[in-house]
Amino acid sequence: MNKVGITETVLRDAQQSLIATRMERKEFEDILETMDNAGYHSIECWGGATFDSCLRYLDEDPWERLRFIRKKCKKTKLQMLLRGQNILGYHHYSDTTVRAFVRDSIKNGIDIIRIFDALNDFTNIKVAVETCIEAGGHAQGTICYTTSPIHTLEAFVELGKELEAMGCHSICVKDMAGIMSPQVAYDLITELKKNVNIPIVLHTHCTTGLAQMTYVKAVEAGVDVIDTAISALSGGTSQPSTESTVYALEEMGYATGVDFKLLKKINDHFTPVKEKFIADGKLNPKVLGTNIDALSYQIPGGMLSNLIAQLTAQNALERLDEVLAETPNVRKDLGYPPLVTPMSQMVGVQAVMNVLFGRYNYISKEVKAYLRGEYGKAPGEINEELREKALNGQKPIQGRYADTIKNEMTKAVERLGAYARDEESVLSYVLFPQITEEYFEKAEEAKMLKVTYTIREAE
Ligand code: CO
Repeated sequence: MNKVGITETVLRDAQQSLIATRMERKEFEDILETMDNAGYHSIECWGGATFDSCLRYLDEDPWERLRFIRKKCKKTKLQMLLRGQNILGYHHYSDTTVRAFVRDSIKNGIDIIRIFDALNDFTNIKVAVETCIEAGGHAQGTICYTTSPIHTLEAFVELGKELEAMGCHSICVKDMAGIMSPQVAYDLITELKKNVNIPIVLHTHCTTGLAQMTYVKAVEAGVDVIDTAISALSGGTSQPSTESTVYALEEMGYATGVDFKLLKKINDHFTPVKEKFIADGKLNPKVLGTNIDALSYQIPGGMLSNLIAQLTAQNALERLDEVLAETPNVRKDLGYPPLVTPMSQMVGVQAVMNVLFGRYNYISKEVKAYLRGEYGKAPGEINEELREKALNGQKPIQGRYADTIKNEMTKAVERLGAYARDEESVLSYVLFPQITEEYFEKAEEAKMLKVTYTIREAE
């Protein structure tokens, strides 16, 4: 019988897509053991925005959260999402920091690291992949899926071969915008299976309403693992529901290894959690619907709402059509970057400025850095005239930008002083200096309050 593994995303992508990663540990801690027994291929529970959100909004130490999940989930593989050389931030870090972060993620409980670069420039994931393999982790290389004249089936297959040659244990095709159609999935997975020998994972979102159909065709083409979310937090900008997917696949004769009865229990747990997020406004029912804008405009849904917000702020919403027409031009000038963070923001802001102030009369700081090479190599040709104008005599970076970055950790240890208890806390500080310091201060205060209470009680 053919097998299809299921990765449950409720603790990472599902909650990141629907409720801006605001789920506290107390909202899932009691269901972890049941999740561990459900038979998932893996549980995606860390990385992406979870790290930032723990420190910034939830007063939780992300490392502590990971160790806790590991303690409760002894059997199932724990998975995280890593932004390659960006780690979990928005710019590149030194190799020393990337290596330390990968090692510590594995040490604290991660089994599978899904590693991606927004430009599919694999020199930006190489160090993370190597370190993951050395540390005994499962390195999952990632292809960011997008549509453009240069993103052909053949080009994606070449990327897959590169990932296999790098030593990756599996490949994830990541459709962050939910725009992959069932037929493309079928053709792409078929070709990848023909050309590489490591397992293929497909990741998509329900945003445009294609995902369930796309998964069925991907499974027919031989995909090994797909990502789903327990039904309470599925659909809309999240993943297809775990239960429906398992139900359909089992009926089609595929073994998922997942215990359907336990899924019911897991969903019963998350249903009131979802209700609470709707009640307090953190889950806007709008994101649960189907929105085909991404298909019409070939830009992700999140990017479209950003464009609308920017134009509204400039009192120029009536120029939206012009901006939507300018977006593909900007993307072409920048060498067709996939529209994923941070490229989607960069392209969107530049398109707005081009429409409002004239083409490239104002070039954003980020686009200048991109044209200098601080984000890696563009997938296609960059408009050289634009690059010259943006760099204004400055030299573009030769080779890897990360090679020019000094190790951030030494300075962080000094700055943190007594709070630099272990390498993990130093890494938190390197990634998010201000919020980490605030978090440590608050935690310290809470500890002191506890001491004062004990003293009072003794009186
Ligand atoms: Co995603």
